[in-house]
Amino acid sequence: PDAETGVAGALDDLVVVSNREPYQHRYTEEAGVVVDTPVGGLTGGLDRVMRRTDGTWIAWGDSDADPSVVNAADCVRVPPGDPSYTLRRVWLGEDAVREYYYGFSNQVLWPLCHGLHGKAEFDRAFWERYRDVNAHFAETVAEHVEPGSTVWFQDYHLALAPRMVRQSLPAGTPLVQFWHIPWPEADTFRACPEGEALLDGLLGTDVLGFHVPEYCRNFLDCVARELPGATVDRDAGEVVYDGHRTRVRAFPMGVDAERIGDVSANTPDGFWESFRREHGVVGSTVAVGVDRLDYTKGIPERLDALERFWERNPEWRGELTYVQKATESRSAIPAYQRLGTEVRDGVERVNDRFGTDEWTPVVYLEEHLSDADLYGLYRHSDLALVTPVRDGMNLVAKEYVAAQPTTPGEAGVLLLSALAGADDDLGDDALTVHPSDTDGFADAIGEAVSMPDHDRDRRMCRLRSTVRTNDLDAWMGDVFAAVEGVRDGVGSVGTG
Ligand code: G6P
Repeated sequence: PDAETGVAGALDDLVVVSNREPYQHRYTEEAGVVVDTPVGGLTGGLDRVMRRTDGTWIAWGDSDADPSVVNAADCVRVPPGDPSYTLRRVWLGEDAVREYYYGFSNQVLWPLCHGLHGKAEFDRAFWERYRDVNAHFAETVAEHVEPGSTVWFQDYHLALAPRMVRQSLPAGTPLVQFWHIPWPEADTFRACPEGEALLDGLLGTDVLGFHVPEYCRNFLDCVARELPGATVDRDAGEVVYDGHRTRVRAFPMGVDAERIGDVSANTPDGFWESFRREHGVVGSTVAVGVDRLDYTKGIPERLDALERFWERNPEWRGELTYVQKATESRSAIPAYQRLGTEVRDGVERVNDRFGTDEWTPVVYLEEHLSDADLYGLYRHSDLALVTPVRDGMNLVAKEYVAAQPTTPGEAGVLLLSALAGADDDLGDDALTVHPSDTDGFADAIGEAVSMPDHDRDRRMCRLRSTVRTNDLDAWMGDVFAAVEGVRDGVGSVGTG
């Protein structure tokens, strides 16, 4: 069995399939080939899983390395410098990227699944390209699967591939899919003209995972409503469709809490003083937010709440500073460009209103931070504002907890949106925020900054224990235990 998860067999011949690749090779004349790691919980988390295997990770080759160098090869061994698994790149042309990635994935499925279907841009060409690219991924998967492999699809970019790939796989190959974003209510899902095909695609899997039970229930409701031929057993969390059984399960994703705790505890002496000096962070209390620039993350709502807080609590002007680390994302999409402008304007508005020569209320960073700097920032921040308007899980909440000091009197406070999947795990000991309720949110900031030490410590102690128990290994162990459960029957009816 694997030492960390206790699961036998499942890590051998693992084939992970995702849209985003874990390492991106960039080429510049001056620096030659540089390797970046993309932002987002999916790639970082799964890379730590894959490092323990000799498996294959299939992903869109979004690298712009000089094609004359080795990095344009279909297969590269990664991580760079300490290779342990194979990255197989699927090359996509410009039109495919525009219609499949920016189009159907991020302008239809992303808003739809986050309950924002008014933002969805339905377009036949997006759908057709999504289908073609899923077929392209499915063909690539078939090239890499051997008897004994487990195929693990990730996320909303690849809803159709499981059904497409099923026919071509050796008998007994388990197919798993983990959906990293919410699954919407049936009424919302109904807005999607291709809903039936998406459900049909996903029901090609043996195990279909979501972060929390609510998304599983929503998915089963959608199947019951849209696919008359399917039999849905809500109690067992199973669907039988077209002679095949799919288990629908909640696996709340976690973080590598031990590593984050170690990195943060080993922050070099003087880190915080120099970070504060470099970025102009003054005052007795620091709040932090770390997000991709995405309209689901609730950044404008957060700026409104901070503004309300400073408006009502003038004694905290000059004392509470908010550090917003933002990472540009999907910026070819107009809604993301608008959001970027709204956020930058919002920061300027608040800083113009309250800022002084000595104090900048909102310190806004778009630059890259290393893990050490990020976890150091979490460790020293007195509160974290994790307040998306909707989020599948939100691993920043868990990373913040994992990075907190254990010394009594030094714990920070987590403010967490009721609309993040992480609320299921962490809601009892975080301060719960409804991100669009500006007054309530401002009150919660007030409560956090004046919370007595013993209360902070008590809450953080319980949060830490939850985050450590339900960490990345536990998540993977649960997923693979479910896979082991189907390995012999492979989902065919009557053998499950
Ligand atoms: C979310 C999605 C991931 C995605 C990440 C970054 O976490 O669930 O699938 O990789 O955002 O977004 P991007 O579009 O840059 O891959």
